[in-house]
Amino acid sequence: MAVKTFKAMLVEEVKGGKFIRKITQRSLDDLPEGEVLVKVHYSSLNYKDGLSATGHRGVTKNYPHTPGVDAAGVVEQSLSPSFHPGDPVIVTSYDLGMNTPGGFGQYIRVPAAWVVPLPDNLSLRESMAYGSAGLTAGFCMLKLQEHGITPETGEILVSGATGGVGSFAVAMLALVGYQVVAVTGKMDEKQFLIDLGAKRVISRSEATDTSGKPLLKGRWAGVVDTVGGEILATAIRSTKLHGAVTCCGNVASPDLHINVYPFILRGISLIGINSQSCPMTFRQRTWEKIANEWKVPDLDRQTSLCSLEQLDGEIDRILAGKQKGRVIVALAG
Ligand SMILES: NC(=O)c1ccc[n+]([C@@H]2O[C@H](COP(=O)([O-])OP(=O)(O)OC[C@H]3O[C@@H](n4cnc5c(N)ncnc54)[C@H](OP(=O)(O)O)[C@@H]3O)[C@@H](O)[C@H]2O)c1
Repeated sequence: MAVKTFKAMLVEEVKGGKFIRKITQRSLDDLPEGEVLVKVHYSSLNYKDGLSATGHRGVTKNYPHTPGVDAAGVVEQSLSPSFHPGDPVIVTSYDLGMNTPGGFGQYIRVPAAWVVPLPDNLSLRESMAYGSAGLTAGFCMLKLQEHGITPETGEILVSGATGGVGSFAVAMLALVGYQVVAVTGKMDEKQFLIDLGAKRVISRSEATDTSGKPLLKGRWAGVVDTVGGEILATAIRSTKLHGAVTCCGNVASPDLHINVYPFILRGISLIGINSQSCPMTFRQRTWEKIANEWKVPDLDRQTSLCSLEQLDGEIDRILAGKQKGRVIVALAG
């Protein structure tokens, strides 16, 4: 193999505890040991990457570091019998981009156990339109379905709806017939959410009740919450009898002020989502659904493409809660 160096984003700590980001040349020798070397064609930007790119030690302990929890590309070398040079593959989460150099570099080297063969009917670029965010939306949806929430059960509330996880939750739920009510802080993006399939769009203030009542009128059969805090607390208290609420994010707050009444009087299930350590069988099942019955038509509507050099500004936008849909990062070439 001729390639010895490749381009990557590197986040470094400088004087005063500050962190800088630069695009630089890295060597294959800088990558950790692992069974599968992948030439990355596309990555994508997630909220967690924003944290890693700004020195958040809860995500990345050691710097200098290359973030990127998502990567899709082609196997270049493999010590595993499961993968061969030329295989198109997806690698998302586990430790990628956290303490293992991630998808914001043109090569990654990872354990074979992290690698998913690209499903038929999905291109590398399409897989990164979804990335960890779309996959997480898929996990939430599959969990709601496992809890018996069907399109007939009633409306589904999705919070952080213009974000990566939220926008895919809206689009995929609507695609298979659910009535989706989208919560957003960007009411000027109402039409974007309607076009994705939302039946109604409500503001964050409409989705936040501070009355202190333990139970509110039951409105939602299911909830995909991506923000936490008061919106999640309100959603739980507004969920109908035997409804289910998935919880995956904390962009609003990690706190949850509720009591046990929604659980013991309404039988509501609160389902935690951890995509990072999600078992491979559930992961592959979700990718198969994404590639087939949940495949969103016209993915370009909710994605934009940027180069490694253009990624810096996109990182600032996602951390400010201003991102709409998903940003795909093109690395090949
Ligand atoms: N548990 C897991 O496995 C897992 C996997 C993936 C992501 N996550 C987490 O899920 C969350 C969403 O990830 P993402 O990639 O979708 O992020 P994102 O693209 O930045 O979207 C988050 C959205 O939340 C809303 N928001 C931002 N600040 C808010 C605030 N202060 N109060 C209420 N809403 C706010 C915004 O949407 P609106 O303007 O439309 O309200 C924003 O677009 C993050 O916390 C991320 O770490 C967890």
